[in-house]
Amino acid sequence: MTINRARRKFLGTVAAGGASIVASRHAAAAPQAAAPKAAPLTTPRPAVLGGTPIRTAAFPGWPVQDSREEQAMVAVLKSGKWGRGVGGQVKAFETQYAALTGTQHCLATANGTSALLTTLAAMGIGAGDEVIVPPYTFVATINAVLMLHALPVFVDTDIETFQIDASKIAAALTPQTRLILPVHLGGSVADMDTIMGLSTARNIPVVEDACQSHLAQWKGRHVGSIGKAGCFSFQASKNLNSGEGGAIISNDQALVDQAYAFHNNGRPGSGSDFAYRHAGLNLRLTEFQASLLMAQMTRLETQFAHREANAAYLTKQLSQIPGISPAKMYPGVTRNAYHLYMFRYDPSAFVGLPRAAFLKALRAEGIPASSGYSPLNTEPFLASVFASTGYQRIYGAATLKSAEERSRTPQNDRLCEEAVWLTQTMLIGPREDMDHIAEAVRKIQKYAGEIARQSN
Ligand SMILES: Cc1ncc(COP(=O)(O)O)c(C=O)c1O
Repeated sequence: MTINRARRKFLGTVAAGGASIVASRHAAAAPQAAAPKAAPLTTPRPAVLGGTPIRTAAFPGWPVQDSREEQAMVAVLKSGKWGRGVGGQVKAFETQYAALTGTQHCLATANGTSALLTTLAAMGIGAGDEVIVPPYTFVATINAVLMLHALPVFVDTDIETFQIDASKIAAALTPQTRLILPVHLGGSVADMDTIMGLSTARNIPVVEDACQSHLAQWKGRHVGSIGKAGCFSFQASKNLNSGEGGAIISNDQALVDQAYAFHNNGRPGSGSDFAYRHAGLNLRLTEFQASLLMAQMTRLETQFAHREANAAYLTKQLSQIPGISPAKMYPGVTRNAYHLYMFRYDPSAFVGLPRAAFLKALRAEGIPASSGYSPLNTEPFLASVFASTGYQRIYGAATLKSAEERSRTPQNDRLCEEAVWLTQTMLIGPREDMDHIAEAVRKIQKYAGEIARQSN
């Protein structure tokens, strides 16, 4: 109940929010937040210096499951209908997910990568086309573009929000730009007003990579339902999980029909089994995965609210620690799914303690944090793709060079050096877990000089 009350308050605050990026919103969301504790004069020594760790208990595990999942899986097993061609689970899931996200159509796919690939293929994206992408994302966003021999053009990241910097997209467009592919990173939402404004003005469609942002919302609309289509992942780490799995949502019936055929070896949903509409792949979800997803969906909203309330409380605490900057949200973000809890770390507020040593010290305290992505646009594998005979033949050296120049992203490079991630499962436990995280950071800050000397 505490969490629900807090969330209502959170949404109310957002509706009245100002025009700039919202930092203080979290403060309003904290349910009966106790004042953040200052490090006492006698702060115990950090575990990395031989002190006692703040916690030894593990954070909550993932996935959460009970008899609901067991019954769902056993029912499919016993039915003998294990594939979508013969069973009704995938169809039932698609109906439920479309309703949940407020869209007309949903097509389930084998995973998030294939949701992206299928959508782009269904839209006819291919050789010679440029696609606007963020560099701060999982490689699958880029791979979907590359698999179709299209050219990813990277637009820099807004370091404050960790999302694509929408104000820089216009400068990266050319007559060859066929698609804008923003990612809603970490459960938050990209600046959809700016992106959709540009999309309309330049007549370039938008596909939302919402693989990390189930149930997140922009001005009350579900992510994935704002552009031409939205793609989701149900891979094991995701907030909605069936081990592997994916989905496309859209209000465009023709697009979903094309997508259906592509994910079904080019065979349309109706008509003869061996009528091929175009080339395609088998990227179908199984009945087992669909039944698992429907069981997992019974907890989705409660888990979401829990994460949101804990994240709000944690932000209130961490924001008061010099050198720690939690990711901000655009005012249009009315719900953040917190697939990741992300913040930036500034070593200068920690006596120059490098991020790697900070992370090591955090882990020693029992707080499993990581450094997140490295810059995708400078990945050596991309250089070899662009140097390949196929890419050279399609685009020519001059276009590839110009795309590379347009793809320089200094803010993203900096973010990749400063970011710290906590996973979503760390937000579904008790409030005390948030206190532990903040306490660990304060403790490390207090002893940063000594830790730095020791790690040299
Ligand atoms: C932003 C993003 N896009 C795409 C994907 C690909 O999803 P999947 O792993 O289900 O193929 C992921 C998965 O981690 C992702 O985080």
